[in-house]
Amino acid sequence: MVKLETIISLAKRRGFVFQSSEIYGGLNGFWDYGPLGVELLNNIKQSWWKAMTYRDDIVGVDASIIMHPKTWVASGHIAQFSDPMIDNKTSKARYRADNLIEEFIRKLNNKHKFDLAKEIEEKLNKCQENNDYFKIIIDYQIPDPVSGSTDWTEVRNFNLMFKTFVGPVEDESGTVFLRPESAQGIFVNFKNVMDASRMKPPFGIAQIGKAFRNEINTKNFLFRTREFEQMEMQYFVKPGSEKDWFEYWKEQRWNWYIEMGMQPEKLRWKPHEKLAHYANNAIDIEFEFPFGFGEIEGIHSRTNFDLTNHQSHSGKKMEYVDTVNQERYVPYVIETSGGVSRAFMAFLCNAYDEEKIIDEGKEDTRVVLRFDAKLAPITLAVFPLVNKDGMPEYAHQIYKDMQKYFRVQYDTAGAIGRRYRRQDEIGTPFCLTVDGQTLIDHTVTIRERDSMLQDRINVSKIRDYIDRRI
Ligand code: GAP
Repeated sequence: MVKLETIISLAKRRGFVFQSSEIYGGLNGFWDYGPLGVELLNNIKQSWWKAMTYRDDIVGVDASIIMHPKTWVASGHIAQFSDPMIDNKTSKARYRADNLIEEFIRKLNNKHKFDLAKEIEEKLNKCQENNDYFKIIIDYQIPDPVSGSTDWTEVRNFNLMFKTFVGPVEDESGTVFLRPESAQGIFVNFKNVMDASRMKPPFGIAQIGKAFRNEINTKNFLFRTREFEQMEMQYFVKPGSEKDWFEYWKEQRWNWYIEMGMQPEKLRWKPHEKLAHYANNAIDIEFEFPFGFGEIEGIHSRTNFDLTNHQSHSGKKMEYVDTVNQERYVPYVIETSGGVSRAFMAFLCNAYDEEKIIDEGKEDTRVVLRFDAKLAPITLAVFPLVNKDGMPEYAHQIYKDMQKYFRVQYDTAGAIGRRYRRQDEIGTPFCLTVDGQTLIDHTVTIRERDSMLQDRINVSKIRDYIDRRI
């Protein structure tokens, strides 16, 4: 299993991800995507968008991040979107109480104290109120990981929504929130979309967009951040059919990760023990990160909670009227909700491989990102074998031609082996070399990243060759 530090260091060195505002010391919980990162991110989003909306029953929207503040009253986020927070009186460090307990359980398991770990885990799964977390922390004398102190404050609620103000006056009347989930932009537009695009249940609305949560603790690189993107789809169905659609969407979403090259043994299902305030059933797809399994996407059966609440808070009907069967109802909703940055990190970890090879007679290690060709930031690299005899000019022309269709890099620096290695490390599936024979018969070699095997093809066939493999 690759170490998280290895992934973070590769991500920075090769321009996938940088710490936000690094020159000022960084800002906790915020990250910037570099030149290769933004390509991978876009490829993930584009593949998701294609899979979810290039079909008859789903359309897309792009709603604003800041919404009418009543949205968050109706959705329950003002009252309930909070985490249990606890402070250590000695170190003044602040924690999410459930995470503090989970961390303690992990340490017990590492020390092979399995019975005690299981006992605490069972209690954690039953926690309903702040006081339940507090009791576990006190009963088991859980220490502050920073200071070792067991002197704790009470557990309090901490609302995760970022507040800001609309207009020039910073007072309560102008208070708005950065959306903590993109889903509400879909719910408030349910009627608009249904009427404008003449959809009827079962149908879905998909959206990719930023969400913000003022997480108490950020951790594990891109896993828990304060600004992130979601790829969400709400599927509106007739009440009573939600169980079947829940199963349908579970299968669809699992298969998408496999089609994008995820190794099935690195994924698992995790049913929710505790349900969010809006759900009557929920299950997560988890990926095995270097720090353990973690959620990358949730499939939630949200009942008619959101639409009914928006109906009562706005006074606007959120019903579907079926004129043929003479019935009207507020649809139930199955939601698929994935994090773009979590998928990004999962695909990065999934792709990372180190391979022993013999290079120029010596044993060496090849670092290779085995991305599916659809996700790889760069699809094709073009090299002249040597920088003379017209090869650079020929290769550069191919590079320019292929740029119309794919993300292509041109590289003339260093030995050919080195150039292959640089592309392997960023996951480029195809490397094309112009050599002496190219100048005679217009053929080039194409080397495939994983097998390292080479084909020789005519220059007129390059685009077709790559298209077929993508
Ligand atoms: N609309 C439902 C919803 O937002 P969620 O389980 O809170 O459900 C959905 O979030 C997905 O968003 C998660 O599976 C995860 O991939 C991503 N996500 C949530 N919080 C995140 C955070 N702080 N940092 C990065 N991704 C996050």
